[in-house]
Amino acid sequence: MTGSVRETWGSRAGFLLAAVGSAIGLGNIWRFPGEAYESGGGAFLIPWMVAILTAGIPLLILEYTIGHRSRKSGPSAFRSMSKNAEGIGWWQVAVAILLATFYASILAWAVSYTFFSVTASWGDEPGAYFTEFLNVSGEVYQFGEFNWGIFGALAGVWVVSLVIMAGGVRKGVELANKVCIPLLVVLFGALVVRAVTLPGALDGLNTFFTPDWNALGDYQVWVAAYGQVFFSLSIGMGTMIAYASYLRKKSELTMTATTAGLANASFELLAGIGVFAALGFMAYNSGGPVIDEQNPIVGGGLAFVTFPTILNEMPGTELFGFLFFGSLVVAGVSSLISMLIVPLASFQDRFGWDRKKTVLVIGIPMALVSLAVYPTRNGPMILDAVDQAVTPYGLVMAGLASIIAAFASGKIGRLASDANRYSILKLGAWWYAFLGITAVVLVYILLFNLVPDQIDWYLNPKEGNTLSPDQVLITWSVGAASILFGLVMGVVMRNKPVPQTDEDLENAEEEASA
Ligand code: PHE
Repeated sequence: MTGSVRETWGSRAGFLLAAVGSAIGLGNIWRFPGEAYESGGGAFLIPWMVAILTAGIPLLILEYTIGHRSRKSGPSAFRSMSKNAEGIGWWQVAVAILLATFYASILAWAVSYTFFSVTASWGDEPGAYFTEFLNVSGEVYQFGEFNWGIFGALAGVWVVSLVIMAGGVRKGVELANKVCIPLLVVLFGALVVRAVTLPGALDGLNTFFTPDWNALGDYQVWVAAYGQVFFSLSIGMGTMIAYASYLRKKSELTMTATTAGLANASFELLAGIGVFAALGFMAYNSGGPVIDEQNPIVGGGLAFVTFPTILNEMPGTELFGFLFFGSLVVAGVSSLISMLIVPLASFQDRFGWDRKKTVLVIGIPMALVSLAVYPTRNGPMILDAVDQAVTPYGLVMAGLASIIAAFASGKIGRLASDANRYSILKLGAWWYAFLGITAVVLVYILLFNLVPDQIDWYLNPKEGNTLSPDQVLITWSVGAASILFGLVMGVVMRNKPVPQTDEDLENAEEEASA
């Protein structure tokens, strides 16, 4: 790498599309409506909006500035803030590997269901069909029995994403997003138009939009909202640090981050509208309530059971099934590649490897691990356990760590002035204040809610707990392993300098003379 010029995005729009493509994913189409459903519909909307404005967008801006200023990804970017902070980048690399390996497998389910849509092969009992499809063994540790259909779809997902990654920033990531986003808007837009014109849709929308002021006092709703915002905006994992590191020097940052944040939120609302309209239609047909507390939608239920049930009841089952599952795949691929960039770009920048080498040495082994673990009969149980680790012990905690590092290194002011040079929205006291408040809220959430909940699941297994005690142990193990990896790498790499490119040297000179 030494001597070469860092790749950049083809245009400002190219970067923005990639940022939006990362943010819009399963988190919007599936996770958001599910969280809103569990929190009772309208109760979720206000905490969600507050979390976007006060935590989501300020953190997005922080990640943009870290990546843009250092023009490095992950560990090298944190190291340029402070030698003590490099471990945060490695921790995020581990989290990205955990997330990407299971996210890909959910995409593989969606790929399979896109094919099933052609003949609506889930039949009259989508619930039973899905159970048979996953064929879960019930034994968390019983590895090795593969579900070859899912295996094949997953292999396809990995081939496509690694080919995109091998293409680099412009000819890989940017191009893929230029295809995915317009396609997604068309597919999903058609679906939402259909959903809101179904009978009963209005009842569903009322449930979604009627705020429940009492619920604002329920901390669980707030915890869910913060988790959702981190996941959906792709923050806390270094994704945006990596993407922003490929920006040119004279780049607008703050308005771009705000635009990406709001675009993601709009798409999330659109998905909420589509899904709740469809739930209203289902309630209209059955005569039941839109949110049936007796019948919580958990895990894969919303996308792979509830949706096919609704599709069965409407004309054009096959077409709309294809649009829905196709949307999941398209939205998910552009998010998956933004997870892959974290380990790939980190190794490239920190060790001076070239792109081909990182795809071979890091990307392919990730694909193999994903293929070995998730398309098995116990895979979905591991998936649930790892999923529960990624948001709290990954995105939220590492996001918190990056705020602390930015303040503690004393570089936060420099990040702000760097951003302010070419940005429309100027960073000032408000930005520091939101980051500070977010840090306090996150500490509170972690110490008093997320961690105690999981301890309780472990100690008092009962029906309705999201995880079994065996699964909680996996959650903790992978969470702890990712943090440990960060710590160890932080120490091991401490005295090893980051390989410098000619461009870096120029930058350093410019900075010294400024
Ligand atoms: N934001 C993506 C989604 O909504 C998930 C994601 C999280 C992507 C973290 C990158 C980093 O599906």
